Amino acid sequence: MLVTGKQILDHAHENGYAVGAFNVNTMEQVQAIINAAEETKSPVIMQASQGALKYAGVEYIAAMAKVAAENASVPVALHLDHGTDFKQIIKCVRYGFTSVMIDASKHVLDKNIEITKQIVDIAHAAGVSVEAEIGKIGGTEDDITVEEKDATYTDPEEAKKLVDETGLDSLAIAVGTAHGPYKGEPKLDFERITTIKEKLNIPLVLHGSSGVPESSIKEAVKRGINKINIDTDIRMSFNEAVRDFVNNDKDTYDPRKILGPAREAMKNIIIEKMTMFGSKDKAWK
Ligand code: G3H
Ligand code: 13P
Ligand code: ZN
Repeated sequence: MLVTGKQILDHAHENGYAVGAFNVNTMEQVQAIINAAEETKSPVIMQASQGALKYAGVEYIAAMAKVAAENASVPVALHLDHGTDFKQIIKCVRYGFTSVMIDASKHVLDKNIEITKQIVDIAHAAGVSVEAEIGKIGGTEDDITVEEKDATYTDPEEAKKLVDETGLDSLAIAVGTAHGPYKGEPKLDFERITTIKEKLNIPLVLHGSSGVPESSIKEAVKRGINKINIDTDIRMSFNEAVRDFVNNDKDTYDPRKILGPAREAMKNIIIEKMTMFGSKDKAWK
């Protein structure tokens, strides 16, 4: 069933677990995510980045995800990841996304508040949930690159102001993760998660979660993270499965035979993540 991001994340916040938000670009990814959610009886968020919408088209992504969600027995939200463009965010709302992210984190606080508030007012009027971001998460997504030296952790006071002045539903915070593959082991600022959670008491979001060790993920969830974004780990399992297949079999040319095992590999990694995040058996009616 298709539900809002707020419905999914409020349940996770109230019950102390996190829901995986997995990036989609293709039909195989949509199916891998839904099949994993069904197998684990887990609520789930399917999210499309601006790059995904450019690649597949908002119409295709929305149609695929909606069919998948409406036929699923578990709660599913369709979310725009790292929205930065007003028109594109509105287009997603029109096409049936049930949640959008407005990422105005590159701006100073007052500007972030102004931009976020504008989206919250419009999205809420349409019954759509809003995630915003404060602090700068390292790495690259879409057209935004934040060098490691420029990544700045979320200031709890500023976060409180952003929440109070905009009425957003969930907040992405910078606490030591970065988008894309890690060179060394990421070190998370767990105390900062606790401080922000106590101050805000709303669902918190962790970006750049691929490659973060299981113990750190579990600690972050314990301290108040309720949405965990995963893209790179799924890309890697897809890549590995396709390469394995074509390297071992030079003759097969049927895309279904090549992409079928990749879909299975992606499903398996997603099941692992759902179990790690604590969303297994948390599907509600
Ligand atoms: O955080 C962003 C995701 O990894 C999306 O990446 O912009 O290449 O689709 P993308
Ligand atoms: P990773 O690709 O590092 O998992 O980050 C995903 C993400 O944060 C999407 O918004
Ligand atoms: Zn992200």
